[in-house]
Amino acid sequence: MPTPSDLPLPPAAAASVTLEHLSKSFGTFEVLHDVSLSVTPGEIFVLMGPSGSGKSVLLKHIVGLEQPTAGRVSVDRHDASDPTTREKVRMALVFQAGALFNSMTVYDNLALYPREHRLASEEGIRDKVMRALQILSLENAAHKVPAELSGGMKKRVAIARALVMEPQLMLYDEPTSELDPVMSATIAEIIATLKEQYHVTSMVVTHDRDLALGIADRVGILLGGRLVFLGPPSALSQPADPRVADFLNPRIDLQNPRFKQLET
Ligand SMILES: Nc1ncnc2c1ncn2[C@@H]1O[C@H](COP(=O)(O)OP(=O)(O)OP(=O)(O)O)[C@@H](O)[C@H]1O
Ligand SMILES: [Mg+2]
Repeated sequence: MPTPSDLPLPPAAAASVTLEHLSKSFGTFEVLHDVSLSVTPGEIFVLMGPSGSGKSVLLKHIVGLEQPTAGRVSVDRHDASDPTTREKVRMALVFQAGALFNSMTVYDNLALYPREHRLASEEGIRDKVMRALQILSLENAAHKVPAELSGGMKKRVAIARALVMEPQLMLYDEPTSELDPVMSATIAEIIATLKEQYHVTSMVVTHDRDLALGIADRVGILLGGRLVFLGPPSALSQPADPRVADFLNPRIDLQNPRFKQLET
């Protein structure tokens, strides 16, 4: 049985990511404000922040799905908004909701990218796909279509599909939401193995503090579209900024007047 240390990947040069004064507005609503950040090759960078703080929008800029209103995003010094950048640097985004092709089996979802890019013979692709499925405990799902899977299984299929792309840059949007603790630990091992054995750069958006503190080289915290914290996970135990402390250690207040409305 393969483990995360048997990932089907060749050594490839890890990519860097640079955000320079990135701002993004939708109409008059500013979602990201002047965010600057460099992720170095082989680093595991974890991005946290409350719901709606702009985390997914930030990731989408890196793969060119959103264009900056101001500032610049680059991957290995190539402009991320230029479509040819995705041909030069192999990057995989594991979407929050999976984004699988519903008409195709799990196997064909995984085989699509290596077939289109002729990464290997059909036999070689089969080997990569089956190994990725085994690592994520999905062997029995190979011939199912996404509609037949649970939410957590779809999430694992999305991660397996990213692995067979042999990426230089892995972007994960909430990789452990909907997963049980054992599978969450496997995902953490996969992310760490990609770094240690293949030097892959990873950016991980998560609400999962155990995952963040367990694997991150550095953590960034977005609040209201601004990067209010950037540093090693150890610095989060005593955050200087009270906004960061409140985000990390929310208090449950049962006296909150909002709950009074629930009382009969
Ligand atoms: N295409 C869009 N058009 C208009 N507004 C958008 C668009 N995409 C995102 N937004 C808005 O931008 C804000 C940030 O969205 P984003 O999806 O980045 O949040 P998030 O930090 O990923 O939240 P969550 O933790 O809930 O996934 C939200 O207010 C959202 O409504
Ligand atoms: Mg999101």
